Amino acid sequence: MVLFWSTAELIFDINFIIQIILIILLVIGVTQKQTWKYHGTIMGVATISMLITVLIIMGPSLGANMVVLLLFPTNPGSIVTIVHVVFGSLALILGLFFTIRFLYFAISKRPLICGTRIQMRIQIAIWFLSFLFGLIFYVYYYLI
Ligand code: HEM
Repeated sequence: MVLFWSTAELIFDINFIIQIILIILLVIGVTQKQTWKYHGTIMGVATISMLITVLIIMGPSLGANMVVLLLFPTNPGSIVTIVHVVFGSLALILGLFFTIRFLYFAISKRPLICGTRIQMRIQIAIWFLSFLFGLIFYVYYYLI
């Protein structure tokens, strides 16, 4: 399609834009820690949005390209995709874990501290790495 002058279908350009917005949201969520309620809500919204894009865009694309990944796992494109999917899945699982804890603590009126500082830093690093490999994927397949 035409966004970014890429050869991607429109849905993948849209996904790319959504992921950029989510990364911005993530940075806002990380820097806004005056109240854990605000921080947790932003991170929860980003995580649920990421889940939706995985379910309706990236997951189906992975399924459609699974045969290529299995037949040519050492292709540069396949390696980028596999690394992206591993980091992305980890980011999703950890994000959902913290989001569920956040909701549970909020409902049961407990302090909203759902993880330690180191756990949160690991989560952010994994999310960024996933985005980085998604970006490499986009450049490799649609821009060059
Ligand atoms: C932190 C979580 C994630 C981020 C930030 C992220 C980001 C991105 C970005 C920026 C792209 C390039 C745009 C595009 O081609 O659509 C992409 C593509 C892709 N992602 Fe993710 N992603 C995440 C999680 C996942 C997960 C969990 C999966 C596994 C199902 C996955 C599978 C894919 C696939 C297969 C593509 C290629 C789509 C295509 O055919 O163009 N991603 N991702």
